[in-house]
Amino acid sequence: MSAQEQAFLEYVQGGGQVETSDWMPAEYRARLIKFIEMHGNSELMGVLPEREWILRAPTLQRKLALTAKVQDEVGHAQLIYRVVEDLGKPRAACLQDLIDGKSKFHNVFHYPTKSWGDVGVIAWLVDAAAIISQKALLKCSYAPYARIMKKICWEESFHILHGRDVILTMMNGTDEQRTLVQEALDRWWGPLMQFHGNPIAQGDDPSFSWRIKSQSNDEARQQFLDGYVPQIWELGLTVPDPKLRKDEEADRWEYSEPDWAELKHVVTGNGPRTKGRLQLRRTSRAETDWVRRALLAEAA
Ligand SMILES: [Fe+2]
Ligand SMILES: [Fe+2]
Repeated sequence: MSAQEQAFLEYVQGGGQVETSDWMPAEYRARLIKFIEMHGNSELMGVLPEREWILRAPTLQRKLALTAKVQDEVGHAQLIYRVVEDLGKPRAACLQDLIDGKSKFHNVFHYPTKSWGDVGVIAWLVDAAAIISQKALLKCSYAPYARIMKKICWEESFHILHGRDVILTMMNGTDEQRTLVQEALDRWWGPLMQFHGNPIAQGDDPSFSWRIKSQSNDEARQQFLDGYVPQIWELGLTVPDPKLRKDEEADRWEYSEPDWAELKHVVTGNGPRTKGRLQLRRTSRAETDWVRRALLAEAA
Protein backbone atom coordinates (compact mmCIF):
# COMPACT_ATOMS: atom_id res chain seq x y z
CA MET A 1 0.00 0.00 0.00
CA SER A 2 1.39 3.43 -0.93
CA ALA A 3 1.80 6.18 1.68
CA GLN A 4 -1.18 8.00 0.13
CA GLU A 5 -3.36 4.87 0.36
CA GLN A 6 -2.26 4.27 3.94
CA ALA A 7 -3.14 7.84 4.88
CA PHE A 8 -6.56 7.40 3.23
CA LEU A 9 -7.17 4.17 5.14
CA GLU A 10 -6.31 5.84 8.44
CA TYR A 11 -8.55 8.77 7.53
CA VAL A 12 -11.62 6.58 6.90
CA GLN A 13 -10.91 4.33 9.87
CA GLY A 14 -10.75 7.44 12.05
CA GLY A 15 -14.28 8.40 11.00
CA GLY A 16 -13.39 10.57 7.98
CA GLN A 17 -15.90 10.83 5.14
CA VAL A 18 -15.19 10.80 1.44
CA GLU A 19 -16.98 12.75 -1.31
CA THR A 20 -17.29 11.77 -4.99
CA SER A 21 -14.72 14.32 -6.15
CA ASP A 22 -12.11 13.32 -3.51
CA TRP A 23 -9.14 11.17 -4.38
CA MET A 24 -9.67 7.52 -3.37
CA PRO A 25 -7.67 4.31 -3.78
CA ALA A 26 -8.75 2.12 -6.73
CA GLU A 27 -9.54 -0.74 -4.33
CA TYR A 28 -11.82 1.43 -2.21
CA ARG A 29 -13.69 2.58 -5.33
CA ALA A 30 -14.03 -1.00 -6.61
CA ARG A 31 -15.27 -2.25 -3.21
CA LEU A 32 -17.79 0.57 -3.01
CA ILE A 33 -19.11 -0.12 -6.51
CA LYS A 34 -19.53 -3.84 -5.82
CA PHE A 35 -21.16 -3.32 -2.43
CA ILE A 36 -23.52 -0.50 -3.44
CA GLU A 37 -24.43 -2.11 -6.77
CA MET A 38 -25.54 -5.29 -4.95
CA HIS A 39 -27.69 -3.12 -2.69
CA GLY A 40 -29.29 -1.42 -5.73
CA ASN A 41 -29.89 -4.78 -7.40
CA SER A 42 -31.55 -6.07 -4.23
CA GLU A 43 -33.94 -3.11 -4.02
CA LEU A 44 -34.91 -3.63 -7.64
CA MET A 45 -35.25 -7.42 -7.53
CA GLY A 46 -36.90 -7.21 -4.10
CA VAL A 47 -40.07 -5.75 -5.57
CA LEU A 48 -40.73 -8.75 -7.77
CA PRO A 49 -41.90 -11.14 -5.03
CA GLU A 50 -44.25 -8.42 -3.72
CA ARG A 51 -45.40 -7.20 -7.12
CA GLU A 52 -46.92 -10.65 -7.69
CA TRP A 53 -49.36 -9.87 -4.85
CA ILE A 54 -50.56 -6.38 -5.78
CA LEU A 55 -53.49 -7.79 -7.77
CA ARG A 56 -54.26 -10.33 -5.04
CA ALA A 57 -54.08 -7.99 -2.02
CA PRO A 58 -57.13 -8.68 0.20
CA THR A 59 -58.44 -5.09 0.53
CA LEU A 60 -58.11 -1.75 -1.24
CA GLN A 61 -56.06 -0.35 1.67
CA ARG A 62 -53.63 -3.26 1.49
CA LYS A 63 -53.34 -2.87 -2.26
CA LEU A 64 -52.51 0.83 -1.88
CA ALA A 65 -49.96 0.17 0.86
CA LEU A 66 -48.27 -2.61 -1.10
CA THR A 67 -48.17 -0.51 -4.28
CA ALA A 68 -46.62 2.37 -2.32
CA LYS A 69 -44.00 0.03 -0.85
CA VAL A 70 -43.11 -1.32 -4.29
CA GLN A 71 -42.75 2.25 -5.58
CA ASP A 72 -40.51 3.13 -2.62
CA GLU A 73 -38.23 0.16 -3.28
CA VAL A 74 -37.85 1.01 -6.98
CA GLY A 75 -37.06 4.57 -5.87
CA HIS A 76 -34.35 3.19 -3.55
CA ALA A 77 -32.84 1.28 -6.46
CA GLN A 78 -32.82 4.46 -8.54
CA LEU A 79 -31.07 6.51 -5.80
CA ILE A 80 -28.53 3.78 -5.16
CA TYR A 81 -27.69 3.19 -8.84
CA ARG A 82 -27.04 6.94 -9.19
CA VAL A 83 -24.47 6.70 -6.39
CA VAL A 84 -22.79 3.83 -8.27
CA GLU A 85 -22.93 5.87 -11.47
CA ASP A 86 -21.03 8.75 -9.82
CA LEU A 87 -18.34 6.25 -8.82
CA GLY A 88 -17.84 5.35 -12.47
CA LYS A 89 -20.23 2.52 -13.37
CA PRO A 90 -23.25 3.72 -15.39
CA ARG A 91 -26.71 2.64 -14.32
CA ALA A 92 -27.30 0.96 -17.70
CA ALA A 93 -24.20 -1.19 -17.11
CA CYS A 94 -25.49 -2.17 -13.65
CA LEU A 95 -28.83 -3.23 -15.13
CA GLN A 96 -27.11 -5.13 -17.94
CA ASP A 97 -24.85 -7.02 -15.51
CA LEU A 98 -27.87 -7.82 -13.36
CA ILE A 99 -29.92 -9.36 -16.18
CA ASP A 100 -26.83 -11.15 -17.52
CA GLY A 101 -26.46 -12.80 -14.10
CA LYS A 102 -23.00 -11.23 -13.60
CA SER A 103 -23.84 -9.37 -10.40
CA LYS A 104 -25.62 -10.50 -7.26
CA PHE A 105 -28.70 -9.59 -5.25
CA HIS A 106 -29.76 -10.56 -1.73
CA ASN A 107 -30.68 -14.17 -1.04
CA VAL A 108 -34.22 -13.46 0.21
CA PHE A 109 -35.34 -12.19 -3.19
CA HIS A 110 -34.62 -15.50 -4.91
CA TYR A 111 -37.54 -17.27 -3.19
CA PRO A 112 -41.23 -17.62 -4.08
CA THR A 113 -44.10 -15.94 -2.23
CA LYS A 114 -46.72 -18.62 -1.71
CA SER A 115 -49.41 -16.80 0.29
CA TRP A 116 -50.43 -13.41 1.67
CA GLY A 117 -48.63 -14.52 4.85
CA ASP A 118 -45.35 -14.35 2.91
CA VAL A 119 -46.10 -10.74 1.93
CA GLY A 120 -46.51 -9.85 5.62
CA VAL A 121 -43.36 -11.70 6.66
CA ILE A 122 -41.34 -10.03 3.90
CA ALA A 123 -42.52 -6.49 4.75
CA TRP A 124 -42.08 -7.06 8.47
CA LEU A 125 -39.03 -9.29 8.88
CA VAL A 126 -37.09 -9.02 5.61
CA ASP A 127 -37.36 -5.24 5.79
CA ALA A 128 -36.40 -5.40 9.48
CA ALA A 129 -33.27 -7.40 8.64
CA ALA A 130 -32.51 -4.93 5.84
CA ILE A 131 -32.97 -1.81 7.96
CA ILE A 132 -30.43 -3.10 10.48
CA SER A 133 -27.77 -3.17 7.75
CA GLN A 134 -28.98 0.10 6.29
CA LYS A 135 -28.93 1.96 9.61
CA ALA A 136 -25.32 0.88 10.04
CA LEU A 137 -24.64 2.39 6.59
CA LEU A 138 -25.62 5.84 7.89
CA LYS A 139 -22.05 5.84 9.21
CA CYS A 140 -20.51 4.71 5.91
CA SER A 141 -17.21 6.40 5.03
CA TYR A 142 -18.56 7.23 1.56
CA ALA A 143 -20.69 10.31 2.27
CA PRO A 144 -23.10 10.26 -0.73
CA TYR A 145 -24.15 6.69 0.13
CA ALA A 146 -24.56 7.55 3.83
CA ARG A 147 -26.68 10.58 2.92
CA ILE A 148 -29.25 8.72 0.80
CA MET A 149 -29.56 6.12 3.55
CA LYS A 150 -31.49 8.66 5.68
CA LYS A 151 -34.41 8.75 3.23
CA ILE A 152 -34.18 5.00 2.63
CA CYS A 153 -34.21 4.13 6.36
CA TRP A 154 -37.18 6.41 6.96
CA GLU A 155 -39.16 4.64 4.23
CA GLU A 156 -38.01 1.19 5.36
CA SER A 157 -39.29 1.83 8.88
CA PHE A 158 -42.67 2.57 7.34
CA HIS A 159 -42.54 -0.74 5.42
CA ILE A 160 -41.95 -2.57 8.69
CA LEU A 161 -45.04 -0.97 10.21
CA HIS A 162 -47.07 -2.03 7.18
CA GLY A 163 -45.72 -5.60 7.45
CA ARG A 164 -46.37 -5.76 11.18
CA ASP A 165 -49.92 -4.57 10.62
CA VAL A 166 -50.51 -7.29 8.01
CA ILE A 167 -49.18 -9.92 10.44
CA LEU A 168 -51.13 -8.56 13.45
CA THR A 169 -54.37 -8.55 11.47
CA MET A 170 -53.86 -12.15 10.37
CA MET A 171 -52.85 -13.29 13.87
CA ASN A 172 -56.04 -11.72 15.23
CA GLY A 173 -58.09 -13.38 12.49
CA THR A 174 -59.05 -17.00 11.87
CA ASP A 175 -57.08 -20.19 12.56
CA GLU A 176 -56.54 -20.48 8.83
CA GLN A 177 -54.95 -17.01 8.72
CA ARG A 178 -52.72 -17.84 11.70
CA THR A 179 -51.62 -21.00 9.93
CA LEU A 180 -50.70 -18.99 6.83
CA VAL A 181 -48.43 -16.75 8.93
CA GLN A 182 -46.78 -19.66 10.72
CA GLU A 183 -46.17 -21.46 7.42
CA ALA A 184 -44.67 -18.30 5.93
CA LEU A 185 -42.41 -17.84 8.97
CA ASP A 186 -41.28 -21.48 8.64
CA ARG A 187 -40.38 -20.85 4.97
CA TRP A 188 -38.57 -17.54 5.57
CA TRP A 189 -36.67 -18.26 8.78
CA GLY A 190 -33.75 -20.02 7.06
CA PRO A 191 -33.21 -17.27 4.46
CA LEU A 192 -33.63 -14.60 7.19
CA MET A 193 -30.88 -16.19 9.29
CA GLN A 194 -28.63 -16.30 6.23
CA PHE A 195 -29.46 -12.70 5.23
CA HIS A 196 -26.59 -10.92 7.03
CA GLY A 197 -24.00 -13.36 5.74
CA ASN A 198 -21.64 -15.82 7.34
CA PRO A 199 -19.56 -14.63 10.29
CA ILE A 200 -16.34 -13.02 9.07
CA ALA A 201 -13.78 -11.66 11.52
CA GLN A 202 -13.84 -7.87 11.18
CA GLY A 203 -10.13 -7.80 10.32
CA ASP A 204 -10.76 -10.16 7.37
CA ASP A 205 -13.64 -8.14 5.96
CA PRO A 206 -12.42 -5.43 3.55
CA SER A 207 -15.83 -3.69 3.60
CA PHE A 208 -15.33 -3.27 7.34
CA SER A 209 -11.68 -2.19 7.05
CA TRP A 210 -12.60 0.59 4.60
CA ARG A 211 -15.51 1.46 6.90
CA ILE A 212 -18.04 0.93 4.12
CA LYS A 213 -19.99 -0.98 6.75
CA SER A 214 -19.61 -0.45 10.46
CA GLN A 215 -20.90 -3.68 11.97
CA SER A 216 -19.99 -7.32 11.45
CA ASN A 217 -22.41 -9.81 9.89
CA ASP A 218 -22.89 -11.56 13.19
CA GLU A 219 -23.54 -8.32 15.10
CA ALA A 220 -26.27 -7.48 12.58
CA ARG A 221 -27.86 -10.92 13.03
CA GLN A 222 -27.76 -10.60 16.84
CA GLN A 223 -29.43 -7.21 16.58
CA PHE A 224 -32.14 -8.69 14.36
CA LEU A 225 -32.79 -11.53 16.81
CA ASP A 226 -32.82 -9.15 19.77
CA GLY A 227 -35.32 -6.84 18.13
CA TYR A 228 -37.69 -9.34 16.57
CA VAL A 229 -37.69 -12.76 18.23
CA PRO A 230 -39.47 -11.43 21.36
CA GLN A 231 -42.12 -9.84 19.11
CA ILE A 232 -42.54 -13.06 17.11
CA TRP A 233 -43.02 -15.05 20.33
CA GLU A 234 -45.40 -12.47 21.74
CA LEU A 235 -47.69 -13.00 18.75
CA GLY A 236 -47.87 -16.72 19.54
CA LEU A 237 -45.73 -17.79 16.59
CA THR A 238 -43.08 -20.49 16.79
CA VAL A 239 -39.60 -19.90 15.39
CA PRO A 240 -38.60 -23.08 13.54
CA ASP A 241 -35.28 -23.49 15.35
CA PRO A 242 -35.25 -25.66 18.50
CA LYS A 243 -31.82 -24.30 19.46
CA LEU A 244 -32.88 -20.67 19.46
CA ARG A 245 -32.49 -19.10 22.91
CA LYS A 246 -30.99 -16.03 24.45
CA ASP A 247 -27.96 -16.61 26.64
CA GLU A 248 -28.66 -13.73 29.03
CA GLU A 249 -25.26 -13.93 30.70
CA ALA A 250 -23.34 -13.67 27.46
CA ASP A 251 -26.02 -11.32 26.03
CA ARG A 252 -26.06 -13.41 22.86
CA TRP A 253 -28.59 -15.42 20.94
CA GLU A 254 -27.75 -19.04 20.32
CA TYR A 255 -29.16 -20.63 17.19
CA SER A 256 -28.67 -23.53 14.79
CA GLU A 257 -25.95 -22.76 12.28
CA PRO A 258 -27.58 -21.27 9.17
CA ASP A 259 -27.14 -23.21 5.95
CA TRP A 260 -24.21 -21.31 4.38
CA ALA A 261 -24.00 -23.72 1.43
CA GLU A 262 -27.61 -22.88 0.55
CA LEU A 263 -26.84 -19.14 0.81
CA LYS A 264 -23.92 -19.47 -1.60
CA HIS A 265 -25.91 -21.64 -3.99
CA VAL A 266 -28.85 -19.20 -4.02
CA VAL A 267 -26.94 -15.92 -4.45
CA THR A 268 -24.86 -17.33 -7.26
CA GLY A 269 -27.99 -17.58 -9.38
CA ASN A 270 -29.53 -20.88 -8.30
CA GLY A 271 -32.46 -19.88 -6.10
CA PRO A 272 -35.92 -21.33 -6.78
CA ARG A 273 -37.08 -18.10 -8.50
CA THR A 274 -33.76 -16.60 -9.73
CA LYS A 275 -34.09 -17.50 -13.38
CA GLY A 276 -37.77 -16.58 -13.71
CA ARG A 277 -37.30 -13.18 -12.08
CA LEU A 278 -34.24 -12.31 -14.14
CA GLN A 279 -36.17 -13.35 -17.23
CA LEU A 280 -38.98 -10.98 -16.24
CA ARG A 281 -36.43 -8.14 -15.93
CA ARG A 282 -34.99 -9.03 -19.36
CA THR A 283 -38.43 -9.07 -20.98
CA SER A 284 -39.48 -5.77 -19.41
CA ARG A 285 -36.18 -4.19 -20.46
CA ALA A 286 -36.74 -5.33 -24.05
CA GLU A 287 -40.35 -4.14 -24.02
CA THR A 288 -39.40 -0.65 -22.83
CA ASP A 289 -36.40 -0.31 -25.13
CA TRP A 290 -38.36 1.90 -27.56
CA VAL A 291 -38.93 4.44 -24.75
CA ARG A 292 -35.21 4.75 -24.10
CA ARG A 293 -34.46 5.04 -27.81
CA ALA A 294 -37.14 7.70 -28.29
CA LEU A 295 -35.84 9.74 -25.35
CA LEU A 296 -32.24 9.48 -26.51
CA ALA A 297 -33.25 10.52 -30.06
CA GLU A 298 -35.13 13.48 -28.56
CA ALA A 299 -32.13 14.47 -26.43
CA ALA A 300 -29.82 14.27 -29.46
FE1 LIG B 1 -35.79 -0.55 0.15
FE1 LIG C 1 -38.45 -1.85 2.21
